[in-house]
Amino acid sequence: MAPLWPEEVDVFTVPHSRMKKLVHKYSKMILSADFANETRFKTLLQNLHNVFLEFKAHERIENMLIMRKLRYKLRAASVTSAAVCNCHSDNRLTDMLELVSDGYKWTDKTDYERQVFGVKLREALEDFTENFIPHMEEEEEVFQPMLMEYFSYEELKDLKAKVIYEHGVS
Ligand code: FEO
Repeated sequence: MAPLWPEEVDVFTVPHSRMKKLVHKYSKMILSADFANETRFKTLLQNLHNVFLEFKAHERIENMLIMRKLRYKLRAASVTSAAVCNCHSDNRLTDMLELVSDGYKWTDKTDYERQVFGVKLREALEDFTENFIPHMEEEEEVFQPMLMEYFSYEELKDLKAKVIYEHGVS
């Protein structure tokens, strides 16, 4: 489907394209993961750690550049939106980073113990993905229209440029 917004003011699609690639990457990694192999297990943890740090950076950029400014605009217009206020209020990313870090405790344990951890990790990743994809869709389908409504076109162009710069993507 063609984007609903001119590309130069669409603040979510480009960063989300990168985030969705990362989701695809870890989904493939976890499917073929060999938890019994200590070296491959460590590599998997390192890759997941990097992915979740990038998700965390994405969330920080959105909070700092988009959500905070959107809240100001809504407040100025006397509009309340629970969706905007609660957008990043859960600790899913922190929990995932902690779980991945916890995985290093299992690197020198038995194959069986690593496999038990692997099942837990796989389930947690599935659960995270089930929430993260709809979360990004909400931002694209609910928050982008709000931005279009409450920001000027020039403000959004500037915002998009900053968002892209901070993500280091193009
Ligand atoms: Fe774009 Fe809040 O993830």
